[in-house]
Amino acid sequence: MRTHYCGEPNLNHLQQTVTLCGWAHRRRDHGGVIFIDLRDREGLVQVVCDPDRAETFATAEKIRNEFVLKITGLVRNRPEGTVNPNLSTGEIEVLAHTIEILNPSLTPPFQLDDENLNENVRLTHRYIDLRRPQMQNNLKLRYRVAKTLRDALDGHGFMEIETPMLTRSTPEGARDYLVPSRVHPGHFFALPQSPQLFKQLLMVSGFDRYFQIVKCFRDEDLRADRQPEFTQVDIETSFMDEKAITALVEDMIRKLFQGVMNVELPNPLPRLTYKEAMARYGSDKPDLRVTLELTELTDIMKDVDFKVFSAPANSGNGRVAALRIPGGGEISRGEIDAYTQFVGIYGAKGLAYIKVNDVAKGREGLQSPIVKNLHDACLKAIVERTGATDGDLIFFGADKAKVVNEALGALRIKVGHERGLVTGAAWAPLWVVDFPMFEYNDDEKRWDALHHPFTAPMEGHEDYLSSDPGKALSKAYDIVLNGWEIGGGSVRIHRQEVQSKVFSALNISAEEAQEKFGFLLDALQYGAPPHGGLALGLDRLVTLMAGAESIRDVIAFPKTQRAACLLTNAPNTVDEKQLKELHIRLRQQVQTQVEVEKG
Ligand code: AMO
Ligand code: AMP
Repeated sequence: MRTHYCGEPNLNHLQQTVTLCGWAHRRRDHGGVIFIDLRDREGLVQVVCDPDRAETFATAEKIRNEFVLKITGLVRNRPEGTVNPNLSTGEIEVLAHTIEILNPSLTPPFQLDDENLNENVRLTHRYIDLRRPQMQNNLKLRYRVAKTLRDALDGHGFMEIETPMLTRSTPEGARDYLVPSRVHPGHFFALPQSPQLFKQLLMVSGFDRYFQIVKCFRDEDLRADRQPEFTQVDIETSFMDEKAITALVEDMIRKLFQGVMNVELPNPLPRLTYKEAMARYGSDKPDLRVTLELTELTDIMKDVDFKVFSAPANSGNGRVAALRIPGGGEISRGEIDAYTQFVGIYGAKGLAYIKVNDVAKGREGLQSPIVKNLHDACLKAIVERTGATDGDLIFFGADKAKVVNEALGALRIKVGHERGLVTGAAWAPLWVVDFPMFEYNDDEKRWDALHHPFTAPMEGHEDYLSSDPGKALSKAYDIVLNGWEIGGGSVRIHRQEVQSKVFSALNISAEEAQEKFGFLLDALQYGAPPHGGLALGLDRLVTLMAGAESIRDVIAFPKTQRAACLLTNAPNTVDEKQLKELHIRLRQQVQTQVEVEKG
């Protein structure tokens, strides 16, 4: 039927007759001649219909945008001056001999080349949105990335094995999506937040090297880099330590960037400890393209006569830190107010600042509402430690360390990108290593696992699990790219008694552990090899590679920020009969959420 894709014909096909199938991207009438831009997956070609062929011309007159056509015609040179260097077919055109309308189309709800499309409209008519070249390119890139990684893993002897979707809760820190069981009244499956436990069991079974490109489900607050269902490139190996695992993964990522993007990533990737990342960047996924760094001031604020600083400096979990903005002296009062509002999102109660007008003049050269509260030695230390020079601005954060890190960490990224305080490198990957095992949950007054509870403690840190959980570091690692966590993993616990110690540090009783993870605890006692692995977030990785703004732009049929599918109207209510079969009675009648969103 078809001889070529629309994007294929070029000067090599001159004087050949080709048959093309595709969509009418645009039809233009030019005084007796009709031009049709015919589009398919591989590109766009200009088709010319002249009135000499009356029947063909009559058909061409009926064509509207997005009609599906089959066109046979002659490839010829474009007239001089009409060559389009932006098109693969830009030097030729096809003179139509016959045109067949395979299917007409209603007027599309939006123009494919409209640059200001509303995302809800796009998502509602996603099948049309996906025709746009940008979206076609994104999904092609996604496929190439997945294929390249799959081939690389295959080359390293990894075997793809599927794990269940209807399963039990795997604790990755989000809420579960539940599926009611008809056969077992009152019982529910959970969709996997990750295949974590199954891949560990596969190591116990001796598969040695497993991978899976797999959907994971997490009911959590959505952001630009999060979807409720997303895809991991999930990996697990036996008999490899954290060095070997991270080396293998970074080699794969480097080759991926070489092969698909023609980009050379650093070799080896830089490594930062969690502690250093938090101290310098206020984040465990620092964007290293931004040159700004935080400065520690906690120790010098203990004795100042300024409660805003001294109170957190003297509390066990407080932090006072500065963020110096070179040349920031020109930042206006209004902009500072806007930044103060911005850090408020992260819980910061204010954003103290000092404008450094003239370092040589000491106190007199510093312009700020807070200098009067700080003694001379303190001001001197601030200037010295931050390395401030004339014309700079210094911002301050003082609060619980978590608040300061989140607020100044986010401010660092915002100001850095807004003011061009960046390295100029397009890609800044790194490993963050030596994560703590646990993070204190202030609301619930207990320890939570920072990664997941199956992560092994670092050599020599096993005793801290019971004596001082906050001190215990883990064999966990994250891979970060341009400020996004694109993957994370760890060496796992392979001995049952260590796993039990971690559960007890997490305040999970022996009974509860047995009830929830008994199958894993049992398996660990039947010859579990040392093992570890990692999962890459495929959607995030492709979003960055595509230069897309949101993860939704690299997923064919994504959910909205409110976790709904506007195309299919999911989730939706179900009828009483179905609920009854599932032994479920609703607590209250509800309006369909998706309709609320659209309305
Ligand atoms: P983790 O929870 O870090 O680790 O997930 C691995 C990677 O998956 C991506 N990711 C997401 N992407 C889009 N939307 C989401 N809601 C979302 N949540 C996570 C991130 C993240 O780095 N079982 C462990 C892996 C392991 O230890 O081997 C796990 O799931 O890029
Ligand atoms: P106040 O004493 O509340 O008037 O605050 C004086 C300055 O300190 C103002 O610029 C506030 O924005 C700033 N500020 C207040 N609380 C904090 C805080 N927790 N961290 C940093 N700056 C703060």
